[in-house]
Amino acid sequence: MTGDGATLDGSRVLVTGASRGYGAAIARALAAHGARLVLTATDLDRLARVEHDCREAGAGCVLVPLDLTSAASVDAAAEAIARAVPRLEGVVMNAGVLGPLGPIGTTDVGATARTLQVDLVGQVRLLQRLAPLIADRAGVVLVTSDAAGRPGYGAYGLGKAGLEALGLMLRDEWAGRGIRVVAVNPGPMRTAMRAEAHPEENPATVPPPSERVAPVLAVLKGVDPGPRVQAAEWGLS
Ligand SMILES: NC(=O)c1ccc[n+]([C@@H]2O[C@H](COP(=O)([O-])OP(=O)(O)OC[C@H]3O[C@@H](n4cnc5c(N)ncnc54)[C@H](OP(=O)(O)O)[C@@H]3O)[C@@H](O)[C@H]2O)c1
Repeated sequence: MTGDGATLDGSRVLVTGASRGYGAAIARALAAHGARLVLTATDLDRLARVEHDCREAGAGCVLVPLDLTSAASVDAAAEAIARAVPRLEGVVMNAGVLGPLGPIGTTDVGATARTLQVDLVGQVRLLQRLAPLIADRAGVVLVTSDAAGRPGYGAYGLGKAGLEALGLMLRDEWAGRGIRVVAVNPGPMRTAMRAEAHPEENPATVPPPSERVAPVLAVLKGVDPGPRVQAAEWGLS
């Protein structure tokens, strides 16, 4: 069930938000397990440092600029990905922003829309554009959060709830092609986003993102654990 024994054997995998944090940890782990990578972010200098690590591990890499706030950037990224690879056997929709936290009933609507653009709308657009490129029996991971639908988490909580709904819908709509769509909740991790959400916290008390990549690898290796999994509980049962 954990998929630990399998390799990715040259599978082509897209990772969004690969320039730091969880996305960078996923990219490095995928490289170590034999994947070929398409890595996206807005910060290309930082992304190039992750690419360097992945190439050191023997992985082929393509870097594609992607700004989820811009429909034109999403469309250009999808076209660049289609020129770079004939198929994607895996997709990891990891990019996200926190936006202003607080009650959704009073969160500024403009700020809400900007956050949802990255955390939901841009991701819908990208998946729609990539759908013809996604291989039958591919794995598609949507990175979610404990904050999905949780009061007090503003547009971030709203966006993650929407992303989980998107996962359920695509899971059904793409079932005929054998595509596994799985929302993975990594839980708290030592990243820039976590520090922004919890500035009072000692970062040493939360695990590094490299300790939360196992279910993502498993889904991409062919395991279907169901529509939503918690990374912290992966492999414990
Ligand atoms: N950290 C946690 O405790 C935690 C817990 C639960 C869930 N998560 C989820 O895990 C995922 C990764 O979070 P993280 O903690 O690794 O955050 P992070 O360190 O802030 O990384 C976020 C990534 O998203 C990319 N990104 C931000 N804005 C973007 C945009 N407009 N267009 C395209 N890419 C953009 C960033 O790259 P650029 O800045 O280069 O564009 C970066 O690579 C997120 O979906 C987050 O919600 C995190």
